[in-house]
Amino acid sequence: MTNRTTTRPESKRNSISNAKAVAHAKSLAPDLSARIGSTPRTKFRGNPDLFGRLVEDHDLHRALLAMIEETEGSSTDRQKLFEELVKEVKSHAAAEDQALWSTVLRDPVTMEDARHAIAEHKEIEDMLADLAARDMTSSAWLRRFAGLKEEYLHHIREEEQEQFVAAEKHLRLTDVRYMLRVFNRRKKEEKATATIEAKISLKD
Ligand SMILES: [Fe+2]
Ligand SMILES: [Fe+2]
Repeated sequence: MTNRTTTRPESKRNSISNAKAVAHAKSLAPDLSARIGSTPRTKFRGNPDLFGRLVEDHDLHRALLAMIEETEGSSTDRQKLFEELVKEVKSHAAAEDQALWSTVLRDPVTMEDARHAIAEHKEIEDMLADLAARDMTSSAWLRRFAGLKEEYLHHIREEEQEQFVAAEKHLRLTDVRYMLRVFNRRKKEEKATATIEAKISLKD
C-alpha cells in the first residue's frame, strides 16, 4: 500500500494526537493529578488512515491506565475511569477484529499476526472481567491492575510496531480507507451497548 503522509512533521503529529487522548482521559477526572508521560514512537500516530485512528485509541487507553494507577480505593474517579477503560478496550477490540484482523486473517502471509492479536484480545477481556469482579478497595486490586496494564501496553506496542507494519504492506489503500469506516461504525455501536462483565477467572 502507498503510505500517505501529511505535511506536518512526525513529532508535531505525535504531540497533537497525544494531547487529544490525554484531554479526553482528563475530562473524566479533572481533579486527578496524573503524570501520563510519553508514548512509544510509531509512524502511524497522527495519520488520517485506519492505523492512525487505532493509535489514537491506544493513546487514550495509555492515558486511562496511567490515571487509574493514581486513584485511591473505591473513589469515584477509580470507578469512572475503570468503567471507561473497560468499555473503550472492549469496543476497540471488537471493531479492530471486524475492520482489520478478519481481513488480515485471510492472507496466509499475515494470518499468524491476526491470530496473535485476536487471542490477546480474549486474554485482556478475561483480565478486565476478573478485575471487575474483585474488591477495588484492596491493595491486591491495584497489584492485579498493574498486571493488566503491563499486558495491554505490550499488546498495543506490538500492534503498532510489528503487526500493523506487516499488515499495511499487504493491504491496498482503498481497503484501508474502507476499514476506517467499518472501524468507526462498529466502535460506536459497541461502545454504546458495552457492559461491564464481572467474572473471577484468574488464580491468586
Ligand atoms: Fe488489539
Ligand atoms: Fe488495537
